[in-house]
Amino acid sequence: MTQDELKALVGQAALAYVVPGSIVGVGTGSTVNCFIDALATMKDQIRGAVSSSVKSTERLLAHGIPVLEASEVESLPVYIDGADEIDPQGNMIKGGGAALTREKIVADLAERFICIADASKLVDVLGRFPLPVEVIPMAAAQVARRFAKAYGGQATVREGVLTDNGNLILDVRGLQIREPLAMEAEATLWPGVVTVGIFARHKAAVCLLGTPEGVRTLQF
Ligand code: A5P
Repeated sequence: MTQDELKALVGQAALAYVVPGSIVGVGTGSTVNCFIDALATMKDQIRGAVSSSVKSTERLLAHGIPVLEASEVESLPVYIDGADEIDPQGNMIKGGGAALTREKIVADLAERFICIADASKLVDVLGRFPLPVEVIPMAAAQVARRFAKAYGGQATVREGVLTDNGNLILDVRGLQIREPLAMEAEATLWPGVVTVGIFARHKAAVCLLGTPEGVRTLQF
């Protein structure tokens, strides 16, 4: 099976976690695009979606799925999103698509994070994928120095990318994130950091992993 076929497989499998009559939290990325396309087949059974990016909003609307503002809802039963890496405890790196801040906001509204990913995303220790960090532009160099000093990470500004919130993304290489909760908590406090792409406080409750043998369900 190709990677695209694995993404389509888990996008379809995620429909089983959509609660009929509810509003669905929707992430961002190529795997989520497969989920959005699958969700269109049951759009009459949901009240709509809260989206984590302009791109996902456009795709949802193109399918005729109503999109609500995050500020209009108090809670969501599920948030369904991809990941750049996920570890055996359900901690994730996200933000490869630069949507990490809105992803964390919508994930925070949800009772359960359902991660959909192909098997290549499962790693023993987070950090081979460069850690995305959304920063206020004036703080970029300062935050990069702090990553070097605190964790030995090398941060570079992602060229040509502005987030949906008008900020920069730093990609931090050379990390081995053995204590994701602690690193997320510390780096989130650094002035100028908007969001760190470690999802440990908002880790996955379930991961639907696409493998050549089919969908493997990991519960955390
Ligand atoms: C978007 O900012 C990311 O967090 C995505 O969820 C992540 O990069 C996974 O994307 P793919 O499904 O395209 O691999």
